[in-house]
Amino acid sequence: MPLSLAVLVSGGGSNLQALIDRIEQGVLDAEIKLVVANKPDAYGLIRARKNGIPTKVVVHSDFPSRGDFDREVLRAIEAHQAEAVILAGFMRILSPGFVQAFHRRMLNIHPALLPSFPGAHGQRDAADYGVRISGCTVHFVDEIMDHGPVVIQAAVPAEPGEGGDALAARILKLEHRIFPQAVQWLAEGRLITEDRHVRLTPAKRPPADLSDLGVCLVNPPLEQGF
Ligand code: GAR
Repeated sequence: MPLSLAVLVSGGGSNLQALIDRIEQGVLDAEIKLVVANKPDAYGLIRARKNGIPTKVVVHSDFPSRGDFDREVLRAIEAHQAEAVILAGFMRILSPGFVQAFHRRMLNIHPALLPSFPGAHGQRDAADYGVRISGCTVHFVDEIMDHGPVVIQAAVPAEPGEGGDALAARILKLEHRIFPQAVQWLAEGRLITEDRHVRLTPAKRPPADLSDLGVCLVNPPLEQGF
């Protein structure tokens, strides 16, 4: 049985698209039951509709509190019987009740090497700081923003004077590779968490070809198809 997902977006949804594409290619064993956006103009909604995926818009400013907003999102997810929640550029902090409802069944992607540069502008903050290596992180979501156990990270060189936008574009290419892979590991039940540490059970597939990605380091290594 494919893992049934709810994907939450706030913007362009290119990471959502990467998941859709890998599902279509038959390498990601998942089904997206619902895409939720907290902004009515999120392009991710159009990507979902183009692919026949049900959508729901829940605008946070329509709700008196964070808890009320989260309960509405939770209701929608439960109505669509999603087993796991994927935060694909979802720029809202979720309340502890929501997080607990999907304990170790909710993944987030962040465009920096956590624990460095959490928050809404990871790539820009890293570029402004002048780091020489940055990247992206997929992690389980816990009650603290950009904090839960790390599943996979990918690193790329950052160049002096390179603006946040240029760095963000190179990081995004890697996001599209590591996020579907992390979701596949979740679908396969291969992610074993012990406190903060996530152990991946042994690979069933050979390593992926990363030759199109330029200089990068990905750990754990991507598997064939990703
Ligand atoms: C991605 O770079 C994602 O890592 C980031 O938002 C972008 C969404 O792009 N998420 C965060 O910054 C979360 N803290 P997308 O809508 O094209 O997938």
